[in-house]
Amino acid sequence: MRIIETKDLHKYYYENHVKTDVLNGINLSINQGEFVSVVGPSGSGKTTLLYVLSGLEKKTKGSIKLFEKEIEEYSDHEMARLRQTKIGFIFQFYNLLPNLTVYDNILLAQVLANNSNKQRIEELLNYVGLANFRNYYPNQLSGGMQQRVAIARALVNNPAIIFADEPTGNLDVKNGLAIMELLQKLNQELHKTIVLVTHNEDLIKYGTRYLRLIDGVIIDDEIISK
Ligand SMILES: Nc1ncnc2c1ncn2[C@@H]1O[C@H](COP(=O)(O)OP(=O)(O)O)[C@@H](O)[C@H]1O
Ligand SMILES: [Mg+2]
Repeated sequence: MRIIETKDLHKYYYENHVKTDVLNGINLSINQGEFVSVVGPSGSGKTTLLYVLSGLEKKTKGSIKLFEKEIEEYSDHEMARLRQTKIGFIFQFYNLLPNLTVYDNILLAQVLANNSNKQRIEELLNYVGLANFRNYYPNQLSGGMQQRVAIARALVNNPAIIFADEPTGNLDVKNGLAIMELLQKLNQELHKTIVLVTHNEDLIKYGTRYLRLIDGVIIDDEIISK
């Protein structure tokens, strides 16, 4: 299945009457099971691309199909539901709630989606290696551990696709490597489709394909040979 398909996708911002063209005609097709890294320098439009693909930001022009349906054919409610249940997000700064424990951060994402599969939380705590840290608060954990909580949270409703925005950008090399190996496992073992954006070319090798974005245009699209 084609999970994502865009045709001539454009996004621009107007600020103080100044127009900034951020995405300039993106044609992209991502199949279920791919692990796609989008690389490009700072300001090339990577974050904007993720936000537009997930409906968090509105596109300006062109077409986006998510799960084989045009994005504007989803109602706001359907789109919100889609983001809760079929899409998981991982951010550079983890975005955990500081006043909730590890367990409750994961649980909250489940409750918000009207799920109640406690067994799933246990499995995920084990999967990311944090079963013994369930009662810790985010500020009691290293950055790498916080990112693993965020990954468990992203997985709790069993989404088909994971969007990751610079997931290792705030981590040292060793912790960054562990996160990339975990993402690779999600792709290979759990068959999650992953779209990761990063300025770091070294991360390309963990995926199955990479795209290079420069000034909002894809200039390379290559399969990674293993
Ligand atoms: N909300 C916004 N309003 C105006 N300009 C924006 C906004 N978000 C991003 N931009 C501009 O879009 C360009 C690309 O930003 P971004 O997608 O964050 O790039 P990247 O993630 O590759 O660093 C930048 O020039 C940025 O200033
Ligand atoms: Mg960015």
